[in-house]
Amino acid sequence: MRLMKATSGLPATTLRAMDALGEAETLDRYVEPVRDAVRAMPLGRFRDVLHGTWLGHPLHPALVQVPLGAWVSAAVLDLLPGSAREAKVLVAVGVVAALPTALAGLADWAEQHEQQLRTGLVHAASNTLALGLYAGSWAARSRGRSGLGRALGFAGLAAAGAGGLLGGHLSYRQAAGANKAEPVPHLVEPGWHPIGRMEDFPAGEAVRRAVGEVPVLVVRQPGGQVQALADRCSHFSGPLSAGTVEDGCVECPWHGSVFRLADGAVVRGPATAPQPAFDSRVTPDGTVEVRLPGAG
Ligand code: FES
Repeated sequence: MRLMKATSGLPATTLRAMDALGEAETLDRYVEPVRDAVRAMPLGRFRDVLHGTWLGHPLHPALVQVPLGAWVSAAVLDLLPGSAREAKVLVAVGVVAALPTALAGLADWAEQHEQQLRTGLVHAASNTLALGLYAGSWAARSRGRSGLGRALGFAGLAAAGAGGLLGGHLSYRQAAGANKAEPVPHLVEPGWHPIGRMEDFPAGEAVRRAVGEVPVLVVRQPGGQVQALADRCSHFSGPLSAGTVEDGCVECPWHGSVFRLADGAVVRGPATAPQPAFDSRVTPDGTVEVRLPGAG
């Protein structure tokens, strides 16, 4: 029997081209100044709103539905007679909604790794082109040049489609925005696991241990309570045990996400998903054991 290749033809070529973007070091000269400018924006706590920390997952993919939905609907109306006014309104809705959508995407993008930064830059450029074309489409429609307005709208939809394809590649091939701690409950065996003795954990210090193949951050509070979180950050797998422990929280050394040691809750982004938090106990002979609720 002849085995089929997983992908072939146009899909394989497209995929190879998108993979190549992530390796295109020539894009770094544009990535770095844009990333630095985005990081320097004085957004304060609003940055976490844009990341979606309050939502529990990235905000950008949810916002994308509004401009894309409006523009696709405008394209359908452009193909029907007598819908010019409604199509123009939808083009305007898409243009306005694209602005916060882009801001949320930029905030996430500025904290990604190099391959994602390169792919994301081209994703943003495609969508910026789409935005410009749709702004031109709206202007043309406002001046009564409906044919040009429709043509610019279809060109904008093509650019937004290319941007969307790259957005999908970023999300599913390059795992940007995915919760990197999601596999933890599937890798940890149910029940209690010994991780050392009380004297192995100096008060207030981050100590790295492992439960099976899962690295675990362990912190003994000055009062004696032992707190344990999955060590690999939910944002991009940064090692929390190399971070800073302060005020009952740990700060990730890679992009500064802060998690509460007591329950793994996100106190500050860019992470949006909590860290899996272990229960702990000390046996009568002084052995520290941890157990992950929901493991297995
Ligand atoms: S890996 Fe990005 S904040 Fe931890």
